[in-house]
Amino acid sequence: MPLQVPVYLRRLRKEDITEVVEIEREAFSPTWVSSPFKRDLNNRRASYLVACLEPGDSGPGLAVESAAVETADDSRSWLSRLAGRFGLGGGPPPEPAPVEDFAIAGYVSVWYQGDEAHIVEIAVRETLRGNGIGELLLIGSLRAAVAYGSHVMTLEARVSNFIAQRLYEKYSFKAVGIRKGYYSDNREDAVIMTTTPIDAEEYGRMFRELQDAWESRWGPISIFE
Ligand SMILES: CC(C)(COP(=O)(O)OP(=O)(O)OC[C@H]1O[C@@H](n2cnc3c(N)ncnc32)[C@H](O)[C@@H]1OP(=O)(O)O)[C@@H](O)C(=O)NCCC(=O)NCCS
Repeated sequence: MPLQVPVYLRRLRKEDITEVVEIEREAFSPTWVSSPFKRDLNNRRASYLVACLEPGDSGPGLAVESAAVETADDSRSWLSRLAGRFGLGGGPPPEPAPVEDFAIAGYVSVWYQGDEAHIVEIAVRETLRGNGIGELLLIGSLRAAVAYGSHVMTLEARVSNFIAQRLYEKYSFKAVGIRKGYYSDNREDAVIMTTTPIDAEEYGRMFRELQDAWESRWGPISIFE
């Protein structure tokens, strides 16, 4: 049975940066140049989203967003409160499986250049991969890009990174070129992947279906400020 990790997205905050850098270091090579998280906190041409989870009601500094707990009753689990917000009452919700005691499960960074939204980094904590979190981050970044007015989304991935490529292909990214020796640690090539227009009706329809499928599998998509 998959690990059920209740998770929601919100914008990166200053206090998240230490954890996000930890995830970045774990996911990418030791020689990777870290993203300018702090510099970009107020950058209008960038979107940084984090996937947050809560190990239990009393996790350190883990109050669920106030928007999600309008009728907060501390005797109920946060999952129950989230379910309430989305009108998913009826029967006690399943208790989340215990997870390690941390708050940020993953992050995605997007830079906007002209009519393109460029995914700079996307990563999920190694122990939490395979739980739909990377896909949720991609959904959040695509929604942000559409809201920003971007026309297409692009990214580079290591040619050997089949897992990431599978994720992008699921959202109709297609390989459109190769950057030779793009990665400085091992001179590996990057494959450039791009969507068809994300502001077109056809993409919108497919995107809605994929989000519905994500929700049927993992629960409601929750994105907060
Ligand atoms: C790429 C990454 C973000 C995916 O996150 P994740 O939370 O594990 O992925 P999800 O559970 O949301 O899976 C979403 C999709 O990704 C693909 N995928 C995930 N794990 C996979 C695996 N082990 N094998 C093949 N495809 C896989 C599948 O298409 C999957 O959809 P499906 O479940 O319908 O098959 C994560 O593996 C990661 O952080 N990797 C290290 C950093 C990295 O490589 N980032 C990308 C840089 S380009």
